[in-house]
Amino acid sequence: MKTYLVTGGAGFIGSNFVHYMLKRYNDAKIINVDSLTYAGNLENLKSIEGNPNYTFVKANICDKEAMSRIFEKNDIDYVVNFAAESHVDRSISDPEIFVETNVKGTVNLLNVAKEFWQAGEDEYKNGCKFLQVSTDEVYGSLGAEGFFTESTPLCPHSPYSASKASADMLVKAYFDTFKLPINITRCSNNYGPYQFPEKLIPLIINNALHHRDLPIYGDGLNIRDWLYVEDHCKAIDMVIRSGKIGEVYNIGGHNERMNVTIVKTIIEYINENVDKEVDDTLITYVKDRKGHDRRYGIDPEKIKNDLGWYPETSFEVGIKKTINWYLNNKEWIKSVTNGQYKDYYEKMYGIN
Ligand code: NAD
Ligand code: TYD
Repeated sequence: MKTYLVTGGAGFIGSNFVHYMLKRYNDAKIINVDSLTYAGNLENLKSIEGNPNYTFVKANICDKEAMSRIFEKNDIDYVVNFAAESHVDRSISDPEIFVETNVKGTVNLLNVAKEFWQAGEDEYKNGCKFLQVSTDEVYGSLGAEGFFTESTPLCPHSPYSASKASADMLVKAYFDTFKLPINITRCSNNYGPYQFPEKLIPLIINNALHHRDLPIYGDGLNIRDWLYVEDHCKAIDMVIRSGKIGEVYNIGGHNERMNVTIVKTIIEYINENVDKEVDDTLITYVKDRKGHDRRYGIDPEKIKNDLGWYPETSFEVGIKKTINWYLNNKEWIKSVTNGQYKDYYEKMYGIN
């Protein structure tokens, strides 16, 4: 039995990871610690609430005593740190909480893990590992050519990506200085079930279903490299099990699309399959995001060659699954947004 301390497990990727692991392994014990910010929702985990291998603890990763109590009570093998403030637009309007959770929270977890795992000078509990879930955004923005590799210099532009890059540097420093066993994963944009409807794909699906404006920032030609969330979960599981200690692994499926293409793909699917009234006239070009990164694109060769990872869900299949999930889970959207997301966009863009 291996015990995983999953932080941020009530959020989008964290909750998908908890489901993925409990489905895949009978001998994985998951402790999910989450402070339940606006982005964390226990609804995401309802179906596994009674699973004996699953425990939820409501706590903040910045809270040293709470984190220490979890380590005292449980023989933790792995920390998988998803907990973060994750939305770039929020980091532009309110940067400080990003430093608090993403930087200070990570260093707090590193300290607690180090204290409880330490077995001697530069020696740690057998097989333990701290996995930092990071993002391709730490590399900054690409021009028309080339991809991010693990040796691309960090060059973050938003307060969000700067806070994630800072956390990455601290995780690496704990390996370089203390030999704490770590890995860092840097994944491209995820999409799939349980994503809070402030991010592009769920926002567009949700707005389209309500015949609301579909906001596209700037000229809509910015490019993101999209990966179905389950493929990210699979990669994290492989890195925990087989990743070489101290290494960084990029995760991505060479699925680059312009934002406007994403929006039109969603409109087309809903128009053909759900609601004829949803069409391109809903598209509204709005003021560009400040410091908006132009293009992200991951080179995934290292994780493919070294660990045998590959993505299983193509974008064509994944986007249909995702749209249908949101169609079938309208109550989920209502329960997680609770009106706040509408106010947020009204405030930011004056759109309804
Ligand atoms: P999310 O915003 O959906 O979820 C974050 C979770 O962390 C929420 O459940 C929230 O309640 C929790 N949380 C926030 N602050 C906390 C704190 N101080 N203590 C405890 N819990 C706290 O984010 P996500 O999209 O699931 O992203 C998860 C991780 O993956 C993040 O670290 C993010 O940087 C990284 N990542 C995300 C993407 C993406 O496309 N979404 C891509 C690559 C990497
Ligand atoms: P987002 O989902 O916020 O992810 P990230 O900024 O972390 O890549 O945004 C994805 C892209 O979509 C990004 O280029 C910004 C753009 N975007 C819009 O055009 N309209 C929107 O309403 C949102 C939320 C994002």
